[in-house]
Amino acid sequence: MLKQLKQKALQEITEAKDLKKLEKIYRQYLGRKGELTQVLRSLKDLPEQERKEKGKLANQVKKEIEEAIKDRRKKLSVKGGQDKKWIDVTAPGVLPSKGHFHPITLVQREIEEIFQSMGFSVVDGPEVETEYYNFDALNIPKDHPARDVWDTFWLEDLDLLLRTHTSPVQARYMEKNDPPLRIIAPGRCFRHEATDASHEAQFHQVEGLMIGKNISMADFKGIIEEFFKRFFGPDVKMRLRPGYFPFVEPGFEIDIKRKGKDWLEIMGAGMVHPNVSKAVGYSPAGGWQGFAFGVGLDRMAMIKYKIDDIRLFYSGDLRFLKQF
Ligand code: FA5
Repeated sequence: MLKQLKQKALQEITEAKDLKKLEKIYRQYLGRKGELTQVLRSLKDLPEQERKEKGKLANQVKKEIEEAIKDRRKKLSVKGGQDKKWIDVTAPGVLPSKGHFHPITLVQREIEEIFQSMGFSVVDGPEVETEYYNFDALNIPKDHPARDVWDTFWLEDLDLLLRTHTSPVQARYMEKNDPPLRIIAPGRCFRHEATDASHEAQFHQVEGLMIGKNISMADFKGIIEEFFKRFFGPDVKMRLRPGYFPFVEPGFEIDIKRKGKDWLEIMGAGMVHPNVSKAVGYSPAGGWQGFAFGVGLDRMAMIKYKIDDIRLFYSGDLRFLKQF
């Protein structure tokens, strides 16, 4: 009787066409009310000797049926039973490709860290500016020829512009905060100018401002030298040239030397002009003074990573971007 049951079960299992049918067979023989289960259950009423023999056989049959079902299940699963979808939860997953930061972001973060370690706070300002903060508050009156230096994108029908430099953040911050203060303000700037290897219509600057009682150009030189050393390495060469910016007096331009290349102009700086302090409401009797600077972030990145053309940053060329 057990032999017949086994043969019938094994036959049905081999013929099972899909997993659903296979589960049904399992229930039919091994389920709670399954045929074999019932045989096993009935064993307890048999005399001892018979119980032992039949029990051994029944358990063997049970094992064989279980094995057969397991094998068949595997086969049906792999075949996918044509119309069946299945998920192998043990299969290794597909690793999603990871992105990474743009070189400009990396450089911005590094600059922020260096200045923060020297006690500077990082502040922010709007990219769409008013004429007042971009020019007037910075001692660049209307009709002053100096305005032409910054080829400005004006917003149509509005009294607004795209900031040509990060210096308006100086004025905004000083208006709201009393000295002493130490800030940097990184951000995007825009100029309506022809592009070449070192000029873009859209680029980044980091503005710096330090105001205190006895802050001088010597402090500026010390801090900037330390900044360049930490960013470029100890062998960096820099030079200061006199430069004109209406919002500083005296004013300077700073160049950096790249190995085997010409000096590259990288920043403007100087002592904050008394007219700017006045415009933001600092009392001339307060005795506050300090320096400001504006460094080209894209150009910092170009020197550090030996990039020849600033236009690569916004080219969207993955061969370029993947190197960072
Ligand atoms: C200014 O924009 C002044 N606001 C800097 C300043 C701040 C002077 C505070 C004094 C005190 P300038 O136009 O030179 O200055 O620009 C400063 C730096 O920005 C340049 O040295 C250069 O590194 C970068 N830069 C300027 N124009 C572009 C451009 N079109 N593309 C890429 N980088 C630029």
